Amino acid sequence: MSVRLAASRSAFLTLALPGFLLALAGCAKETPKEPEVPAYVPEVVAIPAPPPGFEPVPEPPDNPSTPEKAALGRQLFFDKRLSVDRSRSCYSCHVNEHGLTDGLPVAVGAGEKKLTRSSPTLWNIGYHKEFYWDGRSPTMEKQAMAAWTGGNMGAKDHESEIVGKLNALPGYKAQFQKVFGTDVTADNMMKAITAYERTFFCGDTAFDKFQQGDQTALSDEAKRGWELFRTKAGCGTCHAGILLTDLQYHNVGAGMDAPEPDVGRKKVTNDEKDTGAFKTPTLRNITKTAPYFHNGSKATLDEAVDFVLGGGYPNKYLDTKNLKKVKLTKKERDDLLAFLKSLECQGMLVEPKLPE
Ligand code: HEC
Ligand code: HEC
Repeated sequence: MSVRLAASRSAFLTLALPGFLLALAGCAKETPKEPEVPAYVPEVVAIPAPPPGFEPVPEPPDNPSTPEKAALGRQLFFDKRLSVDRSRSCYSCHVNEHGLTDGLPVAVGAGEKKLTRSSPTLWNIGYHKEFYWDGRSPTMEKQAMAAWTGGNMGAKDHESEIVGKLNALPGYKAQFQKVFGTDVTADNMMKAITAYERTFFCGDTAFDKFQQGDQTALSDEAKRGWELFRTKAGCGTCHAGILLTDLQYHNVGAGMDAPEPDVGRKKVTNDEKDTGAFKTPTLRNITKTAPYFHNGSKATLDEAVDFVLGGGYPNKYLDTKNLKKVKLTKKERDDLLAFLKSLECQGMLVEPKLPE
Protein backbone atom coordinates (compact mmCIF):
# COMPACT_ATOMS: atom_id res chain seq x y z
CA MET A 1 0.00 0.00 0.00
CA SER A 2 2.51 2.60 1.17
CA VAL A 3 4.81 1.52 -1.65
CA ARG A 4 2.04 2.24 -4.16
CA LEU A 5 1.31 5.58 -2.57
CA ALA A 6 4.97 6.52 -2.83
CA ALA A 7 5.02 5.34 -6.41
CA SER A 8 2.01 7.46 -7.30
CA ARG A 9 3.55 10.48 -5.60
CA SER A 10 6.79 10.17 -7.48
CA ALA A 11 4.86 9.68 -10.70
CA PHE A 12 3.09 12.95 -9.99
CA LEU A 13 6.42 14.69 -9.38
CA THR A 14 8.19 13.36 -12.42
CA LEU A 15 5.39 14.74 -14.54
CA ALA A 16 6.24 18.18 -13.22
CA LEU A 17 10.02 17.82 -13.56
CA PRO A 18 11.84 19.00 -16.63
CA GLY A 19 13.39 16.31 -18.76
CA PHE A 20 17.01 16.94 -17.84
CA LEU A 21 16.27 16.46 -14.13
CA LEU A 22 14.57 13.24 -15.01
CA ALA A 23 17.65 12.11 -16.85
CA LEU A 24 19.83 13.15 -13.90
CA ALA A 25 17.69 11.17 -11.48
CA GLY A 26 18.00 8.25 -13.86
CA CYS A 27 21.81 8.40 -13.64
CA ALA A 28 21.96 8.87 -9.89
CA LYS A 29 19.78 5.92 -9.02
CA GLU A 30 19.23 2.47 -10.26
CA THR A 31 15.98 2.44 -12.26
CA PRO A 32 13.31 0.87 -10.00
CA LYS A 33 11.56 -2.25 -11.28
CA GLU A 34 8.32 -1.39 -13.15
CA PRO A 35 5.29 -2.30 -11.02
CA GLU A 36 2.88 -4.70 -12.78
CA VAL A 37 0.04 -2.15 -12.80
CA PRO A 38 1.19 1.43 -13.28
CA ALA A 39 0.09 3.44 -10.25
CA TYR A 40 -3.09 5.43 -10.81
CA VAL A 41 -2.44 9.15 -10.80
CA PRO A 42 -5.57 11.16 -10.08
CA GLU A 43 -6.08 14.41 -11.95
CA VAL A 44 -6.16 16.89 -9.09
CA VAL A 45 -7.26 20.45 -9.87
CA ALA A 46 -7.84 23.44 -7.61
CA ILE A 47 -11.37 23.86 -6.20
CA PRO A 48 -12.96 26.46 -8.51
CA ALA A 49 -13.84 29.82 -7.00
CA PRO A 50 -17.56 30.69 -6.93
CA PRO A 51 -18.60 32.75 -9.98
CA PRO A 52 -18.88 36.53 -9.57
CA GLY A 53 -21.91 37.39 -7.46
CA PHE A 54 -22.10 33.94 -5.87
CA GLU A 55 -21.29 33.30 -2.20
CA PRO A 56 -18.85 30.62 -1.12
CA VAL A 57 -20.50 27.18 -1.14
CA PRO A 58 -21.27 26.13 2.42
CA GLU A 59 -19.51 22.94 3.54
CA PRO A 60 -20.50 20.71 6.44
CA PRO A 61 -17.92 20.94 9.28
CA ASP A 62 -17.20 17.22 8.99
CA ASN A 63 -16.65 17.35 5.24
CA PRO A 64 -14.40 20.22 4.23
CA SER A 65 -13.52 20.17 0.53
CA THR A 66 -9.97 19.62 -0.67
CA PRO A 67 -8.79 19.30 -4.27
CA GLU A 68 -7.81 15.66 -3.66
CA LYS A 69 -11.22 14.84 -2.19
CA ALA A 70 -13.09 16.46 -5.07
CA ALA A 71 -10.85 14.62 -7.56
CA LEU A 72 -11.72 11.33 -5.87
CA GLY A 73 -15.41 12.27 -5.84
CA ARG A 74 -15.25 13.00 -9.54
CA GLN A 75 -14.04 9.46 -10.27
CA LEU A 76 -16.76 7.96 -8.05
CA PHE A 77 -19.44 10.16 -9.65
CA PHE A 78 -18.55 8.74 -13.07
CA ASP A 79 -17.94 5.13 -11.97
CA LYS A 80 -20.64 2.63 -12.97
CA ARG A 81 -19.02 0.03 -10.71
CA LEU A 82 -20.83 1.75 -7.84
CA SER A 83 -24.21 0.41 -8.99
CA VAL A 84 -25.35 -3.10 -8.18
CA ASP A 85 -25.44 -4.21 -11.84
CA ARG A 86 -22.59 -1.94 -13.02
CA SER A 87 -25.13 -0.27 -15.30
CA ARG A 88 -25.15 3.26 -13.88
CA SER A 89 -23.07 5.95 -12.33
CA CYS A 90 -24.39 9.16 -10.85
CA TYR A 91 -23.49 10.76 -14.14
CA SER A 92 -25.77 8.37 -16.08
CA CYS A 93 -28.82 10.37 -14.95
CA HIS A 94 -27.15 13.76 -14.65
CA VAL A 95 -25.46 14.28 -18.04
CA ASN A 96 -24.06 17.42 -19.70
CA GLU A 97 -26.21 17.23 -22.82
CA HIS A 98 -29.38 17.44 -20.74
CA GLY A 99 -28.15 20.14 -18.35
CA LEU A 100 -27.21 17.50 -15.75
CA THR A 101 -30.55 15.72 -16.02
CA ASP A 102 -31.28 12.66 -18.22
CA GLY A 103 -33.80 13.74 -20.84
CA LEU A 104 -36.41 11.25 -19.59
CA PRO A 105 -39.83 12.08 -18.12
CA VAL A 106 -39.01 9.91 -15.10
CA ALA A 107 -35.64 8.35 -14.36
CA VAL A 108 -34.87 4.67 -14.91
CA GLY A 109 -32.77 3.06 -12.17
CA ALA A 110 -30.61 -0.06 -11.82
CA GLY A 111 -32.26 -3.17 -13.25
CA GLU A 112 -34.11 -0.86 -15.70
CA LYS A 113 -36.62 -0.04 -12.97
CA LYS A 114 -38.75 2.99 -13.72
CA LEU A 115 -38.65 5.51 -10.88
CA THR A 116 -41.38 7.98 -10.03
CA ARG A 117 -39.76 11.34 -10.69
CA SER A 118 -37.72 13.27 -13.20
CA SER A 119 -33.97 13.79 -12.69
CA PRO A 120 -33.35 17.36 -11.54
CA THR A 121 -30.35 19.42 -12.60
CA LEU A 122 -27.33 19.49 -10.30
CA TRP A 123 -25.99 22.87 -11.38
CA ASN A 124 -25.30 25.04 -8.29
CA ILE A 125 -26.57 22.19 -6.11
CA GLY A 126 -24.05 23.13 -3.38
CA TYR A 127 -26.25 26.10 -2.49
CA HIS A 128 -29.37 24.03 -1.81
CA LYS A 129 -30.41 23.46 1.80
CA GLU A 130 -32.62 20.40 1.30
CA PHE A 131 -32.47 17.82 -1.43
CA TYR A 132 -34.90 16.09 -3.78
CA TRP A 133 -38.05 17.55 -5.32
CA ASP A 134 -39.72 17.25 -1.92
CA GLY A 135 -36.66 18.20 0.14
CA ARG A 136 -36.76 14.95 2.10
CA SER A 137 -33.00 14.74 2.40
CA PRO A 138 -31.42 17.24 4.84
CA THR A 139 -27.84 16.97 3.57
CA MET A 140 -26.15 16.29 0.27
CA GLU A 141 -24.22 13.44 1.86
CA LYS A 142 -27.46 11.72 2.90
CA GLN A 143 -28.90 12.34 -0.57
CA ALA A 144 -25.89 10.72 -2.23
CA MET A 145 -26.15 7.72 0.08
CA ALA A 146 -29.85 7.40 -0.76
CA ALA A 147 -29.17 7.60 -4.51
CA TRP A 148 -26.56 4.87 -4.14
CA THR A 149 -28.52 2.48 -1.93
CA GLY A 150 -31.97 3.25 -3.36
CA GLY A 151 -33.57 2.48 -6.70
CA ASN A 152 -31.22 4.75 -8.63
CA MET A 153 -28.18 2.52 -8.21
CA GLY A 154 -29.64 -0.38 -6.26
CA ALA A 155 -26.73 -0.90 -3.87
CA LYS A 156 -28.91 -1.78 -0.86
CA ASP A 157 -27.80 -5.09 0.69
CA HIS A 158 -24.74 -5.03 -1.58
CA GLU A 159 -22.97 -2.12 0.08
CA SER A 160 -20.06 -4.07 1.57
CA GLU A 161 -19.60 -6.10 -1.60
CA ILE A 162 -19.32 -2.93 -3.73
CA VAL A 163 -17.11 -1.17 -1.17
CA GLY A 164 -14.89 -4.27 -1.08
CA LYS A 165 -14.54 -4.29 -4.85
CA LEU A 166 -13.53 -0.63 -4.93
CA ASN A 167 -11.10 -1.21 -2.08
CA ALA A 168 -9.45 -3.96 -4.12
CA LEU A 169 -8.51 -1.35 -6.72
CA PRO A 170 -5.15 0.07 -5.62
CA GLY A 171 -5.92 3.45 -7.17
CA TYR A 172 -9.02 3.95 -5.03
CA LYS A 173 -7.51 2.44 -1.89
CA ALA A 174 -4.51 4.75 -2.06
CA GLN A 175 -6.67 7.82 -2.57
CA PHE A 176 -9.02 6.99 0.32
CA GLN A 177 -5.96 6.49 2.54
CA LYS A 178 -4.55 9.81 1.45
CA VAL A 179 -7.79 11.81 1.68
CA PHE A 180 -9.51 10.18 4.68
CA GLY A 181 -6.83 8.00 6.29
CA THR A 182 -9.12 4.97 5.86
CA ASP A 183 -9.79 2.24 3.34
CA VAL A 184 -12.84 2.76 1.11
CA THR A 185 -15.97 3.23 3.24
CA ALA A 186 -19.50 4.05 2.13
CA ASP A 187 -19.60 7.24 4.22
CA ASN A 188 -16.33 8.49 2.83
CA MET A 189 -17.44 7.69 -0.71
CA MET A 190 -20.39 10.02 -0.22
CA LYS A 191 -18.20 12.71 1.32
CA ALA A 192 -15.94 12.64 -1.72
CA ILE A 193 -18.86 12.65 -4.18
CA THR A 194 -20.46 15.66 -2.50
CA ALA A 195 -17.14 17.54 -2.40
CA TYR A 196 -17.14 17.12 -6.18
CA GLU A 197 -20.79 18.20 -6.50
CA ARG A 198 -19.98 21.38 -4.55
CA THR A 199 -17.86 22.42 -7.55
CA PHE A 200 -20.83 22.36 -9.99
CA PHE A 201 -21.10 26.06 -10.70
CA CYS A 202 -23.32 27.60 -13.33
CA GLY A 203 -22.65 31.32 -13.19
CA ASP A 204 -21.33 32.23 -16.60
CA THR A 205 -24.56 32.64 -18.55
CA ALA A 206 -25.27 35.60 -20.83
CA PHE A 207 -27.63 36.77 -18.10
CA ASP A 208 -24.80 36.74 -15.53
CA LYS A 209 -22.58 38.77 -17.84
CA PHE A 210 -25.42 41.26 -18.21
CA GLN A 211 -25.87 41.39 -14.44
CA GLN A 212 -22.18 42.21 -14.11
CA GLY A 213 -22.59 45.20 -16.37
CA ASP A 214 -22.07 43.91 -19.91
CA GLN A 215 -25.03 45.56 -21.65
CA THR A 216 -24.26 43.71 -24.87
CA ALA A 217 -24.55 40.25 -23.31
CA LEU A 218 -28.36 40.16 -23.69
CA SER A 219 -30.43 40.91 -26.77
CA ASP A 220 -33.12 43.60 -26.44
CA GLU A 221 -35.70 40.81 -26.48
CA ALA A 222 -34.02 39.02 -23.57
CA LYS A 223 -33.69 42.29 -21.62
CA ARG A 224 -37.41 42.90 -21.99
CA GLY A 225 -38.01 39.27 -21.03
CA TRP A 226 -36.00 39.73 -17.82
CA GLU A 227 -38.12 42.76 -16.98
CA LEU A 228 -41.33 40.79 -17.60
CA PHE A 229 -39.99 37.85 -15.61
CA ARG A 230 -39.68 40.04 -12.50
CA THR A 231 -42.82 42.11 -13.00
CA LYS A 232 -45.88 41.30 -15.07
CA ALA A 233 -45.20 37.57 -15.54
CA GLY A 234 -44.54 37.14 -11.81
CA CYS A 235 -41.94 34.38 -12.20
CA GLY A 236 -39.36 36.04 -9.95
CA THR A 237 -41.30 35.51 -6.73
CA CYS A 238 -40.51 31.80 -6.78
CA HIS A 239 -37.63 31.67 -9.29
CA ALA A 240 -35.86 34.23 -7.12
CA GLY A 241 -32.34 35.51 -6.60
CA ILE A 242 -29.16 34.54 -8.33
CA LEU A 243 -30.06 30.82 -8.22
CA LEU A 244 -33.44 31.56 -9.81
CA THR A 245 -35.12 29.51 -7.10
CA ASP A 246 -36.36 30.44 -3.63
CA LEU A 247 -35.56 26.86 -2.54
CA GLN A 248 -39.12 26.70 -1.20
CA TYR A 249 -41.99 24.34 -2.05
CA HIS A 250 -45.04 25.33 -4.08
CA ASN A 251 -47.96 23.59 -5.69
CA VAL A 252 -48.23 24.75 -9.31
CA GLY A 253 -50.52 21.87 -10.17
CA ALA A 254 -48.19 19.71 -12.27
CA GLY A 255 -49.39 16.11 -11.97
CA MET A 256 -52.42 17.06 -9.87
CA ASP A 257 -54.69 15.75 -12.61
CA ALA A 258 -53.40 12.18 -12.03
CA PRO A 259 -55.78 9.68 -10.38
CA GLU A 260 -53.33 9.44 -7.46
CA PRO A 261 -51.17 12.54 -7.53
CA ASP A 262 -47.67 12.54 -6.04
CA VAL A 263 -48.22 14.36 -2.72
CA GLY A 264 -44.69 15.83 -2.84
CA ARG A 265 -43.69 17.93 0.16
CA LYS A 266 -46.66 16.68 2.23
CA LYS A 267 -44.95 13.34 2.70
CA VAL A 268 -42.08 15.14 4.43
CA THR A 269 -43.99 17.65 6.60
CA ASN A 270 -47.22 15.68 7.01
CA ASP A 271 -48.96 19.01 6.56
CA GLU A 272 -51.94 18.75 4.24
CA LYS A 273 -51.42 22.18 2.74
CA ASP A 274 -48.06 21.00 1.35
CA THR A 275 -49.88 18.48 -0.87
CA GLY A 276 -48.49 18.53 -4.39
CA ALA A 277 -45.82 21.10 -3.50
CA PHE A 278 -42.34 20.64 -4.97
CA LYS A 279 -39.08 22.55 -4.69
CA THR A 280 -38.85 25.42 -7.16
CA PRO A 281 -36.30 24.30 -9.74
CA THR A 282 -33.58 26.67 -10.90
CA LEU A 283 -34.11 27.92 -14.44
CA ARG A 284 -30.39 27.90 -15.22
CA ASN A 285 -29.78 25.69 -18.26
CA ILE A 286 -33.54 25.38 -18.65
CA THR A 287 -33.24 25.01 -22.44
CA LYS A 288 -31.47 21.68 -21.88
CA THR A 289 -33.41 20.05 -19.05
CA ALA A 290 -36.58 18.91 -20.87
CA PRO A 291 -38.93 17.26 -20.16
CA TYR A 292 -40.12 19.53 -17.37
CA PHE A 293 -41.62 19.39 -13.87
CA HIS A 294 -41.15 16.69 -11.22
CA ASN A 295 -43.07 14.20 -13.35
CA GLY A 296 -41.65 15.20 -16.72
CA SER A 297 -45.15 16.07 -17.88
CA LYS A 298 -44.24 18.89 -20.27
CA ALA A 299 -42.08 17.93 -23.23
CA THR A 300 -40.96 21.40 -24.34
CA LEU A 301 -40.02 24.70 -22.75
CA ASP A 302 -42.87 26.40 -24.63
CA GLU A 303 -45.40 24.02 -23.10
CA ALA A 304 -43.88 24.41 -19.61
CA VAL A 305 -43.99 28.19 -19.82
CA ASP A 306 -47.56 28.21 -21.14
CA PHE A 307 -48.56 25.96 -18.27
CA VAL A 308 -47.29 28.41 -15.61
CA LEU A 309 -48.54 31.45 -17.53
CA GLY A 310 -51.94 29.79 -17.50
CA GLY A 311 -51.82 29.77 -13.69
CA GLY A 312 -50.92 26.08 -13.39
CA TYR A 313 -53.46 23.31 -12.97
CA PRO A 314 -56.35 24.23 -10.68
CA ASN A 315 -56.50 22.13 -7.51
CA LYS A 316 -57.27 22.61 -3.84
CA TYR A 317 -53.62 23.17 -2.89
CA LEU A 318 -52.54 25.42 -5.77
CA ASP A 319 -50.30 28.29 -4.62
CA THR A 320 -52.63 31.01 -5.88
CA LYS A 321 -50.91 33.56 -3.66
CA ASN A 322 -47.77 33.47 -5.80
CA LEU A 323 -48.92 31.93 -9.06
CA LYS A 324 -51.34 34.03 -11.08
CA LYS A 325 -52.76 33.52 -14.52
CA VAL A 326 -50.95 36.03 -16.74
CA LYS A 327 -51.99 37.14 -20.19
CA LEU A 328 -48.96 38.06 -22.30
CA THR A 329 -49.00 39.30 -25.88
CA LYS A 330 -47.22 37.07 -28.39
CA LYS A 331 -44.31 39.49 -28.41
CA GLU A 332 -44.06 39.48 -24.61
CA ARG A 333 -44.15 35.70 -24.54
CA ASP A 334 -41.32 35.59 -27.10
CA ASP A 335 -39.35 38.05 -24.96
CA LEU A 336 -39.83 35.90 -21.87
CA LEU A 337 -38.58 32.83 -23.77
CA ALA A 338 -35.60 34.81 -25.09
CA PHE A 339 -34.68 35.60 -21.48
CA LEU A 340 -34.98 31.93 -20.45
CA LYS A 341 -32.68 31.05 -23.35
CA SER A 342 -30.03 33.41 -21.98
CA LEU A 343 -29.60 31.11 -18.97
CA GLU A 344 -27.39 28.50 -20.63
CA CYS A 345 -24.21 27.68 -18.71
CA GLN A 346 -20.97 27.00 -20.50
CA GLY A 347 -19.62 24.55 -17.89
CA MET A 348 -19.35 20.80 -18.48
CA LEU A 349 -18.42 17.89 -16.29
CA VAL A 350 -15.45 16.00 -17.70
CA GLU A 351 -15.13 12.25 -17.22
CA PRO A 352 -11.82 11.33 -15.59
CA LYS A 353 -9.74 8.23 -16.18
CA LEU A 354 -10.87 5.70 -13.57
CA PRO A 355 -8.72 3.48 -11.35
CA GLU A 356 -8.44 -0.07 -12.68
C1 HEC B 1 -31.34 6.41 -12.23
C2 HEC B 1 -31.05 7.82 -12.35
C3 HEC B 1 -30.27 8.47 -11.26
C4 HEC B 1 -29.03 8.12 -10.77
C5 HEC B 1 -28.18 6.92 -11.15
C6 HEC B 1 -28.67 9.14 -9.82
N1 HEC B 1 -29.66 10.09 -9.74
FE1 HEC B 1 -29.62 11.81 -8.70
N2 HEC B 1 -31.59 12.03 -8.99
C7 HEC B 1 -32.37 11.28 -9.83
C8 HEC B 1 -33.77 11.61 -9.62
C9 HEC B 1 -34.94 10.99 -10.35
C10 HEC B 1 -33.82 12.57 -8.61
C11 HEC B 1 -35.07 13.20 -8.00
C12 HEC B 1 -35.75 12.20 -7.08
C13 HEC B 1 -36.78 12.81 -6.15
O1 HEC B 1 -36.83 14.03 -6.03
O2 HEC B 1 -37.51 12.05 -5.52
C14 HEC B 1 -32.42 12.84 -8.25
C15 HEC B 1 -32.02 13.81 -7.34
C16 HEC B 1 -30.71 14.11 -7.06
C17 HEC B 1 -30.28 15.22 -6.24
C18 HEC B 1 -31.17 16.25 -5.57
C19 HEC B 1 -31.30 17.49 -6.44
C20 HEC B 1 -32.17 18.54 -5.83
O3 HEC B 1 -32.53 19.50 -6.53
O4 HEC B 1 -32.54 18.44 -4.66
C21 HEC B 1 -28.90 15.15 -6.16
C22 HEC B 1 -27.99 16.08 -5.42
C23 HEC B 1 -28.50 13.98 -6.91
N3 HEC B 1 -29.62 13.39 -7.48
C24 HEC B 1 -27.21 13.49 -7.01
C25 HEC B 1 -26.92 12.19 -7.40
C26 HEC B 1 -25.70 11.48 -7.05
C27 HEC B 1 -24.57 12.03 -6.23
C28 HEC B 1 -25.80 10.24 -7.60
C29 HEC B 1 -24.83 9.08 -7.47
C30 HEC B 1 -24.54 8.64 -6.12
C31 HEC B 1 -27.08 10.20 -8.32
N4 HEC B 1 -27.73 11.40 -8.16
C32 HEC B 1 -27.52 9.12 -9.08
C33 HEC B 1 -31.89 10.34 -10.72
C34 HEC B 1 -30.67 9.69 -10.57
C1 HEC C 1 -45.61 29.78 -7.11
C2 HEC C 1 -44.20 29.82 -7.44
C3 HEC C 1 -43.85 29.84 -8.91
C4 HEC C 1 -44.10 30.81 -9.84
C5 HEC C 1 -44.81 32.13 -9.62
C6 HEC C 1 -43.52 30.34 -11.08
N1 HEC C 1 -42.96 29.12 -10.90
FE1 HEC C 1 -42.00 28.03 -12.29
N2 HEC C 1 -42.01 26.44 -11.02
C7 HEC C 1 -42.34 26.48 -9.69
C8 HEC C 1 -42.28 25.16 -9.13
C9 HEC C 1 -42.58 24.77 -7.70
C10 HEC C 1 -41.94 24.29 -10.19
C11 HEC C 1 -41.81 22.76 -10.12
C12 HEC C 1 -43.21 22.19 -9.96
C13 HEC C 1 -43.31 20.70 -10.17
O1 HEC C 1 -42.42 20.09 -10.74
O2 HEC C 1 -44.35 20.17 -9.79
C14 HEC C 1 -41.73 25.16 -11.35
C15 HEC C 1 -41.32 24.70 -12.61
C16 HEC C 1 -41.05 25.54 -13.68
C17 HEC C 1 -40.48 25.08 -14.91
C18 HEC C 1 -40.00 23.66 -15.20
C19 HEC C 1 -38.61 23.53 -14.63
C20 HEC C 1 -38.03 22.15 -14.59
O3 HEC C 1 -36.82 22.05 -14.40
O4 HEC C 1 -38.74 21.17 -14.73
C21 HEC C 1 -40.35 26.18 -15.72
C22 HEC C 1 -39.79 26.22 -17.13
C23 HEC C 1 -40.88 27.30 -14.98
N3 HEC C 1 -41.29 26.87 -13.75
C24 HEC C 1 -40.92 28.59 -15.47
C25 HEC C 1 -41.64 29.60 -14.84
C26 HEC C 1 -41.94 30.85 -15.47
C27 HEC C 1 -41.48 31.29 -16.84
C28 HEC C 1 -42.71 31.54 -14.58
C29 HEC C 1 -43.38 32.87 -14.78
C30 HEC C 1 -44.31 32.92 -15.88
C31 HEC C 1 -42.86 30.70 -13.40
N4 HEC C 1 -42.21 29.54 -13.61
C32 HEC C 1 -43.56 31.04 -12.27
C33 HEC C 1 -42.70 27.59 -9.00
C34 HEC C 1 -43.13 28.77 -9.59
